[in-house]
Amino acid sequence: MTTRGIVLAAGLGIRMKSEIPKVLHLLGGRALIHYALEAVGEATGSPPALVIGPGADRIREEVGPAAQFVVQEEILGTAHAVRQVQGLLAGQADSILIAYGDMPLLTAPTLRGLIEAASRHPGPLAFLVGQGGEARGFGRVLRDRLGRVRKVIEEAQATPEELATEEINLGVYCVREAWLWEALARVRPSPQGEYYLTGLIEMASESGAGAQAIPVRDPDEWIGINTRVHLAQAEAALRGRTNHRWMESGVTLVDPATTYIGPEVGIGADTVILPNTHLEGATQVGRDCWIGPNTLVRESHIGNGCRIEASVLEEATLEEQVQVGPFAHLRSGAHLAPGVHMGNFGEVKNSYLGPGTKMGHFSYVGDAQVGPEVNLGAGTVTCNFDGRRKNPTEIGEGAFIGSDTMLVAPIRVGKGARTGAGSVVTRDVPDHTLAVGAPARNLRRLEPRDE
Ligand code: UD1
Ligand code: CA
Repeated sequence: MTTRGIVLAAGLGIRMKSEIPKVLHLLGGRALIHYALEAVGEATGSPPALVIGPGADRIREEVGPAAQFVVQEEILGTAHAVRQVQGLLAGQADSILIAYGDMPLLTAPTLRGLIEAASRHPGPLAFLVGQGGEARGFGRVLRDRLGRVRKVIEEAQATPEELATEEINLGVYCVREAWLWEALARVRPSPQGEYYLTGLIEMASESGAGAQAIPVRDPDEWIGINTRVHLAQAEAALRGRTNHRWMESGVTLVDPATTYIGPEVGIGADTVILPNTHLEGATQVGRDCWIGPNTLVRESHIGNGCRIEASVLEEATLEEQVQVGPFAHLRSGAHLAPGVHMGNFGEVKNSYLGPGTKMGHFSYVGDAQVGPEVNLGAGTVTCNFDGRRKNPTEIGEGAFIGSDTMLVAPIRVGKGARTGAGSVVTRDVPDHTLAVGAPARNLRRLEPRDE
């Protein structure tokens, strides 16, 4: 028993009022289309055929090898769209699963349930229905006196009586392949000249064995995106789903409504996420961390036992037991070793801070290698840019950089060296040496008791 999938995405999406094709709008930070393709691909076990409209090059580019593309040259309705796939899929499977690119929250288990129900049923077609909830322009399912599905009527064509029907067509079908193409050829155009896929439901119900309606319980699954209001509803529902999963797996979310966790993020158990925290991209967070409130972490690795408060981290690496913030900014290539403390108003870019190093207050460290147990005094700045190129700074183990020191790179401050408050260091400071002044001159060799 094999099933192949079709995802329809050739519609114009006019109500989005956008230059961007509807299915390329972002949901959870990714293009909408990926969700339907993944769910259908997972349920059927192979990449779906994706029907796209004229000039949908951007969709091709976004999707790549995750689908086989079929172009619908004229947008003549959902049944017409499925007919375009006949050449590709005829004779390739026992049944065909048809879903829409603008329904991103339908899950693979729901689709698998539909495929299984269809395979057990003698009729040629099974389809998903919802009960109650917001209608959002869905077609209504009409049944006969014995409760058998008769047909689906589009909202625009329904009488007030029919509109009162609570049962809606989700537009997702599993159809016996041998019957599908022949039935599609029999669909007659609507008064507007469109070929409606819902025509198949009526044909199946007339075929004797009938059309089988499979209910979907969770109304979130059938949020279809036609407008930006729907997009925001889907975003909230997706967030709810993701956050629920993290709480179930042992992560505390103090306020799930304001916690934004991307689909590729990983989080260890007993980590606590405080309100208004965003974890984006392929960010990994270890166990026993405290993150937030008001924190953005993008494409970063955070080890166990870290604490990050009101800060922004981008492409940064924190090893274990690192403390950051409030109001810190870690940029690309920032690497903080175990036990580093980075306090308020600091910025670190493309630099390594060794184990136990402290950088408490308003400092900038860029293109620097800082050894272990270094103290970077308040207002320390690596002057790494000379107007043409970025120059490196090296600070040795146990060095003590006085407040407001300017380290004019390229520069090396030796192990156990010290700089006086306000010094402007333009020449290397040897190990165990005290440097002061502006520009700083090397004053004297330090005795062990000075260090
Ligand atoms: C359709 C159903 C409706 C169902 C609803 C659920 C029909 C006639 N109606 O209505 O019963 O309740 O879905 O969402 O099927 N598309 C194409 N080519 C076309 C037309 C549409 O690829 O020529 C694609 C669209 O990109 C979209 C999907 O098919 O992804 C659905 O089309 P849309 O026009 O949004 O149908 P609905 O009005 O939502
Ligand atoms: Ca729609």
